[in-house]
Formats: sequence, C-alpha cells, structure tokens
Amino acid sequence: MPFIDYEGDKHRVLSGNGRGDTFQDVLGRRLSRRGLVKVAAGSTAAAAVSVTGPRLTVAAQTATPVAGNPVGRVGALGFEPIALDAGDSPVVAPGHTMTAFLRWGDPIMSGAPGFDPAAQSAAAQEMQFGYNCDWIEFMPLPQGSDSNDHGLLVVNHEYTNPELMFPGYLTANPEYTEAPVADDAPPVPEFLTNPTKEIVDTELAAHGLSVVEVRRDEAGAWRVVLDSPYNRRLTATTPMSVSGPAAGNARMQTAADTTGREVTGTLNNCAGGKTPWGTVISGEENFQQYFANLEALGADAPAYASHERFGITEGSSERRWEEFYERFDVAQEPNEPFRYGWGIEFDPYDPESTPKKRTALGRNKHEGHTSFVAPEGQVVIYSGDDERFEYAYKFVTADRFNPDDRAANLDLLDEGTLYVARFNDDGTGEWLPLVHGQGELTEANGFASQADVVIDARFAGDAVGATKMDRPEDFEANPVTGKVYLVLTNNNQREIDQVDEANPRINNLHGHIIEITEENDDHAGTTFTWEMFLLAGDPAQGSTYFGGFSRDEVSPISSPDNITFDVDGNLWISTDGMPNNLPGNDGLFVAPTEGEARGHVQQFFSSVPGGEVSGPVFNPDNSALFVSIQHPGEGGTYKEPMTRWPDGGSAPPRPSVVLIQARDGTARVGNGRG
Ligand code: FEO
Ligand code: CA
Ligand code: CA
Ligand code: CA
Repeated sequence: MPFIDYEGDKHRVLSGNGRGDTFQDVLGRRLSRRGLVKVAAGSTAAAAVSVTGPRLTVAAQTATPVAGNPVGRVGALGFEPIALDAGDSPVVAPGHTMTAFLRWGDPIMSGAPGFDPAAQSAAAQEMQFGYNCDWIEFMPLPQGSDSNDHGLLVVNHEYTNPELMFPGYLTANPEYTEAPVADDAPPVPEFLTNPTKEIVDTELAAHGLSVVEVRRDEAGAWRVVLDSPYNRRLTATTPMSVSGPAAGNARMQTAADTTGREVTGTLNNCAGGKTPWGTVISGEENFQQYFANLEALGADAPAYASHERFGITEGSSERRWEEFYERFDVAQEPNEPFRYGWGIEFDPYDPESTPKKRTALGRNKHEGHTSFVAPEGQVVIYSGDDERFEYAYKFVTADRFNPDDRAANLDLLDEGTLYVARFNDDGTGEWLPLVHGQGELTEANGFASQADVVIDARFAGDAVGATKMDRPEDFEANPVTGKVYLVLTNNNQREIDQVDEANPRINNLHGHIIEITEENDDHAGTTFTWEMFLLAGDPAQGSTYFGGFSRDEVSPISSPDNITFDVDGNLWISTDGMPNNLPGNDGLFVAPTEGEARGHVQQFFSSVPGGEVSGPVFNPDNSALFVSIQHPGEGGTYKEPMTRWPDGGSAPPRPSVVLIQARDGTARVGNGRG
C-alpha cells in the first residue's frame, strides 16, 4: 500500500471541496464569514445545473475487461494500432522507434553532474532535467522559423514523488499492521516520511520547467545541445514577477514581498501552450498541496474560503515543506497561496527574461493556456481548471496581435476579458464575462475589484452561472479547422441530479471530449455551439460514443487528458488514469476530427506501470513526436517501485520525455507503417 492515498489519481490532490457548490452556497459562506449581510434565497444567479432530458441516454460505467480491440487493422492514418498493454516497457505502433530522450536528472548544461540518485542536491538538480515532465512545447530555432530539425523543448516539471526519488525518504511505520482495523479508526500509514532540508531543497529545484536546445543530425538522430545559451531551469525558487489586475493587490502581499509583485518560483506546472509571438504560458495546477495549517486562519478569516475552495489542508501538508520554509505555512503567511494558480508567460528565446504571472487570465488549477488568433486579431487563450465540478475558461486580449512587431505583443496578456463557459442542454453555449462591476461581480457580493475577480475566479464562475464540468484538462483549438476541443478527464462524484448534456454520465470514470464551434468562427465572440466528440471507455459498453464506429473498430480509452494536433488536424489524445478503469497502462491515441473517419480512435503508444502520458507535441512537419511519461512507478516506493523504466537494474524509475520517430527518421510519425 502506498503511503499516500492516490484516490485512484496520480495527483493525490483532488481534495478541493469538489462539492459542486452553488453560488448560493459559496456566497452565503463568504458573506457570513466576512460578517456582512445574509443572502436572501433566490436573490442571486443559481449555478446549479438543470437536468432536462439528456439527449444522450447514459448509464454508469463500470471497470470491466474490454471486448473489442482493432489490433492490426490499419485506420485512416495508415498505422497499425496497438492493443491495451500492461507491461513494463512502452509500446509504439509498428514502424516507429522510440527512446527515453530526456530523463529526470540528465545534465542539460555543460558542467552539470550526471544522474546519481545517491548524491542528489539542489545545485545538481538546477543543472539537470527536472522531475515529472509534463507539457512539452517545440519552439523552432531560429525564433520565427518553422525549422524541423532544430529547436527548444520547453517542458513543465509538475511535481515530485519523494517516495520514489530519495532512498531514505520512507521508513517503515512501527504502528502499521496488516490486520484489519475498525472502519471508523484513523488509517495507519505503512510508511513514515523523513523530509530533510536537503531533500526539500532538491524537490524545490526539481519543480518548474526546463528549456533545452535540441538538434537533429543528417542521419536523423536527435541530441541535446549541452552548451546552448538557451538552456535554462526555472524552479520553485526562481524570481518571477506579477502583472495584470492582481499585481500589487493587498491579497498578493507577503512579509517577503510587500509589493505583491515579486513571487518566489512556480509550482505544479502541468499543461501549457505557446503564443503567436513565440513565448510560452505554463499553467500552475495543484498548488494547494504545498501549503499547511489552514485551520490556524480561523474560518472567519478573509482568506479562508478562498483557500478552502482549493483544498488547502488543515494540519501538516503531506510534503511537510512548511517545517523548513515559513511561506508554506498559511498560519505564518496566509497570502502566499494567492501567488500560485496562475499562468506564467516567459520568452524561451531570451534566457535572461523574467517569467510573469499573468493574472488577467484568472487563478485556478490551470491546464492548457493554448492560443488562437481571432479573425479581428485578438488573441484567445483557452484554459481548463482541473477539479471535479470546476469550469472552462477563455481570455480574449483587448489589443490585437501584431505579426510584424514581436515586442509590441509581449504584454498583450495583461489587458482583456476573462470568460467562463456555460453549456446549454440544446447544444448552444455562452462565454460569460468575468468583469468587475458587471452582474453579480460587485463589492456587495465580495468582489471589490478585478483583482478579487481573478484571484477568486472560481467564485466568480459560480456567480455568473457557469457549467460545472468533469475535470476540465487540455483545451485547444484545432489549427486546421478552428474547432475547439475541451477534454474532461473523469469525475467519479457526479450524481444523477448533477447530470447535464455536457456532462451526461453519472460516476464518469472514463471522461469525455466536447467539440466547440465558436459562432461565425470568431474565437473572440461570446456564443458557440457544441457537441460530444467522444464518450470514452470500453467501447463494448453502451454508455460510450466513438463517432458512431462499432465496438470492434476502435481502441478502448479512458481518462483523456492532454491533446495536440498533427498537420492534418487529427486529434492526438494522451491519458491519465487508464489502469484504474481499463486493463492497460496509460497511452497515446489518435482520432480524425473530420470526414468519414471522424471519431475513429486508435491507440498509438502505451506507457509503463504507474506512469501517465502527457504533453504530446510534434515538430512542424510531424517527423518527430515528443511525449512525456510522467511519474512512472507511482504507487510504489524507492525500494519497491512498480517499474524501473527506463534504466532498469537498481535505478529508480525516471520520468522522461520519449522521442518517437518513423523508422525512416525524417518520415512523418503515425502516417503509415514507417
Ligand atoms: Fe496535472 Fe490535471 O493534470
Ligand atoms: Ca494535465
Ligand atoms: Ca495540448
Ligand atoms: Ca491529469
């Protein structure tokens, strides 16, 4: 038994309230805690979903073995799909090669020490590839080109698994017993944790991002350029600035930063995206897990409701960083959590650039931050908020993208309108503006300024009546068609009275993907239509939808998470949580989005035990596919991991970016048998 309760999910963090509170609930709590007025019933917009005759008849899903699997049958893309695989090595479709290209601990700068799990330090980690690689972006070199053989990989390092990283982190708990304990007895963990300052400092340095120059030689072999001036680590201690409506606000100020404009580092960087001007935006997701002692604030404290909504814990945090750094103890520093949960923009082509937390994009458990240029030139940033019953967002810049003047675009993300999505049961939808002073977003309702609106974007979403979704993950516009895809990973807490057309399954174990068409193809607009693209699961079960393909024609898939597109606009889908619900490791799948093969899901790649697949991205001509295997072996311990991939022997598992190529190293990946 792992010492952590993973709740069937790698994040160990789905501890936010997850209650699907209505605005009445939230506002009532907030206002009574602030000693203000009582809320009269019916005086505010209700956020509860209405259930009016779902167009899709769906039942609860179960985790059962899978009936059909189209192994060996070539689909529209021309490769032979693989089967569900639960083995100890990754598997890729025939005709392709793969390699663990960048592993946790690999040197990414000249002079960096080699990986040695027995001799880890923050100083070494700051020159090495970080832990738990997630989102990847390929940024061509030179900047502005569409180079296929030379670029920068920008990679998020979401979190650390100290129980898998450090030999001495866990010790056996003498109080633990395998004998059954009473149902109402507190759980006794099998292991005790032993964080030291050296371990915590190494963990801080293993978080953040890496920027790594990579190059392909004429033989088709890729390598890291170790002495590149671009190579860089951003960590949980790298200085970052705050811009936009929350910059300088009193709630952003701490003892260490009385300006509210200078933050120490970034945490839990999960998904992200790139801008049309060649910068990147990295999303901070489950930041609540680093903070402790919520109860010390007292339930009437102004910060309490905000922190509780994100699931900041009472008592010690699991990581116990608060024992070494006061800023992680909300009893000491109640505002520090407000400085996380943002999208961070930085310029990977300028290694001296200071990352900026762009608060206009709102604060939540961020995913995505993918961009699209609207017909009139505004830049639109789509982002999910990954928690059960949370919302999908987009941000539209006030000013227009200038393709001829890169510098003129560099602060575009500070001014604009943040919207949250409402999905109507009739297949239409609205983008509801989160603008201070409009509608319910007034001082009387607890929003004193736009800073409050963006800091408490979730409360603002409640207030305007946004639709509570099944864990919104990646959210991305198809560059070929302009249609937008919202990935809902799963939600095992949705009950029958919470079902709506956009979240049509109770106990949604397998997740789904919604396709959005912005009205008049205007991504800056406020209305859209939507339809279900995929209801994932075992296709043999009646509650799934695979574009109308029959059960034996498609690959089983569960818990879709990250997406990307190839040059033809086919949708590539990576998963996080498959083994909980289907008998196989997480994987990478592809489905055409248009034409006769629309919705025809085929499995292309399979991961290793304990590891999710994340961050898939192609180079421009699709001759290289980079994809992360994150947290391989999670669920085990340093002594007994679930896998030792990729090194084997006595090495710990190493989260790694996998490089996939066709056998002919310059041919297109996934487009035939290579
Ligand atoms: Fe870090 Fe929501 O995945
Ligand atoms: Ca994610
Ligand atoms: Ca993506
Ligand atoms: Ca995920």
